[in-house]
Amino acid sequence: MATDIARREGGSSGRFKVTVVGAGMVGGTVAQLLAQRGYADIVLVDIVEGMPQGKALDLMQAGPVLGYDSRLTGANGYDESAGSDVVVITSGIARKPGMSRDDLLKTNMRIVESVTKEIVSTSPNAIIIVVSNPLDAMCHVAFDAAGWPRERVIGQAGVLDSARFRTFIAMELDVSVADVSAFVLGGHGDTMVPLSRYSTVAGIPIPELIAPDRIKAIEERTANGGAEIVSLLKSGSAYYAPASSVVDMVEAVLLDKKRIVPTSVLLQGEYGIEGLYVGVPVKLGARGVEQIIEISLTDEEQAALRSSADAVQGLVDAMERLRSEA
Ligand code: NAI
Ligand code: 2OP
Repeated sequence: MATDIARREGGSSGRFKVTVVGAGMVGGTVAQLLAQRGYADIVLVDIVEGMPQGKALDLMQAGPVLGYDSRLTGANGYDESAGSDVVVITSGIARKPGMSRDDLLKTNMRIVESVTKEIVSTSPNAIIIVVSNPLDAMCHVAFDAAGWPRERVIGQAGVLDSARFRTFIAMELDVSVADVSAFVLGGHGDTMVPLSRYSTVAGIPIPELIAPDRIKAIEERTANGGAEIVSLLKSGSAYYAPASSVVDMVEAVLLDKKRIVPTSVLLQGEYGIEGLYVGVPVKLGARGVEQIIEISLTDEEQAALRSSADAVQGLVDAMERLRSEA
């Protein structure tokens, strides 16, 4: 039944249909990774003329070599994306030198709001996965513009932040990442909350394996993970791990996998937080968020989650102010 839900709108090929808005570094890489899975046709939408069409054609031509039949279409509008099962929003700009946080908020709010309205009118049954930054604030924009239930408008950040945490734990212990399981909660920013107590290597909690000062250093590197890559790349931000994380979530929805993954979702009282998008563990399946999982937190962890939620509230307040000034 759940698979029927996901397939209801799907592409005429019989494969699922996924639209990726913003065909830049993250969006293009999402399309590439998803095409290789073979079960979805992909529509890449961008405002730059020719670019999404060029990337789509290039990716189609990789099909014979890599052995996939996924169809890829590039577009500057939404007709081709109609009836998508999942829509990923990566459109937006990055903060440039001299640009204030409010400037970035104002620009990306406008972009995410207009994109969401297009999605609502062309893919009314889709699940929206927001990626554009600032992530949790952009989830609020998409949620307000869509007017859909919270289960169907969610954000990707926690899968990426947890993947970074897992990588650093595996590097520290010189073990396979396959054996490392880790959780990061909270907003996507430097107030995120890596949960070492719930992070394990083959079931062994990491406080049993790593000294406290090293755990603290790994947690800090995780919270700073995006900035570390920006400072190395110098022009642009990370995209391989972000795109892989998005595909993990898209797959959980399309294949109704019921994965337990940290996801930015509108909390309505869970964890004592009301009316804010914050990353927490959820069950992800064909209906989007199918359950919000509340784990017990120590006072210190709860305070860290609260302060991360306060940072999201600060962005929501700033957006409110920018709207009233407009
Ligand atoms: P990018 O600059 O390579 O791509 C953004 C694309 O959006 C550009 O091609 C641009 O033309 C397009 N765009 C702008 N306005 C548009 C509109 N109205 N409609 C359609 N397309 C539009 O940037 P990149 O590296 O792909 O990052 C995309 C976003 O994702 C950024 O906001 C970035 O900060 C965010 N991000 C979020 C992560 C997360 O974990 N949530 C991780 C990595 C990036
Ligand atoms: C990251 O964490 C920039 O949000 C992006 O890499």
